[in-house]
Amino acid sequence: MRFLVLGSAAGGGLPQWNCLCENCRLAYANSPRIKRRTQASLAVSANGEDWMILSATPDLRQQIIDNPALHPKSLRHSPVKAVFAPNGDIDNIAGLLVMREMQPFTFFATEAVMACASGGVFGVLNAELVARSTVKLEEPVDTGLGFAITPFVTPGKAPLYTESANEAEIELGAEGEYTVGLEIERGGRRFYYMPSCARMTDALRERLDGAEIVFFDGTTFEDDEMIRLGLSRKTAWRMGHMAMNGIKGSMRELAGVAIRRRVFIHINNSNPALLCDSPERAQVEAAGWEISFDGMAIDTAEVLV
Ligand code: MLT
Ligand code: MN
Ligand code: ZN
Repeated sequence: MRFLVLGSAAGGGLPQWNCLCENCRLAYANSPRIKRRTQASLAVSANGEDWMILSATPDLRQQIIDNPALHPKSLRHSPVKAVFAPNGDIDNIAGLLVMREMQPFTFFATEAVMACASGGVFGVLNAELVARSTVKLEEPVDTGLGFAITPFVTPGKAPLYTESANEAEIELGAEGEYTVGLEIERGGRRFYYMPSCARMTDALRERLDGAEIVFFDGTTFEDDEMIRLGLSRKTAWRMGHMAMNGIKGSMRELAGVAIRRRVFIHINNSNPALLCDSPERAQVEAAGWEISFDGMAIDTAEVLV
């Protein structure tokens, strides 16, 4: 299996167009201490030729240009055969709009996310070319690409643009079809893409036990990071995400689980672990985690014996 990180940042990317936090400032200045990043997306392939893209971000066009594996190989062609959107956020579906140039592919999503990406401007996707496959929780889908993929519940919430104006009505940590993790399986080996996970559960820990690679929600380092930096009034939990650090953070919650490679993805521009020389980066690496970056490639033939 091949995995290609097309984008490693959370919604907004790094630098974000309207942000001058320390990380964004350094990224605008092209500092060697931090890499610029596009919004989180993972490309997966069993044969190195045909690819499925997990999360279609607004950066998708640039991500395809930046990755030769995804370039067309003939007059009208694309190695991108399928897209799976694990949630209905803008950073997971807006990329479909840059795939509107009459190319066949299959779009996979749960019913709730499919509804987010249907109608209105999404009607631009030609129904005769773009097959829409609605998938059910816990039902493995044979992608036809040499691997199966199964969506499973991760605590989260409905997309931001569908949130009620009444804060009390917003269900945080909701477990349903709006936010899912994706289990990729081939030959009994399991890989996971989980860009949004608001908290850890026993069921998730059991599922991840024995995984080869987990690409996991690395939105913030601390839960209240964006509040402390004066960037937002929201905690990671309020945004449907989990912090890396702390008692309820991902590093601690997954510490005892057998995972061969644990990789943070969907990392917000405010996260100090993005800085290559920060104490937070050292702490993450000491805990056995990797900070993904755009263009990071993992070929399991190299890492599995
Ligand atoms: C998130 O992951 O919280 C979303 O990307 C928010 C958004 O849609 O801006
Ligand atoms: Mn996001
Ligand atoms: Zn910023």
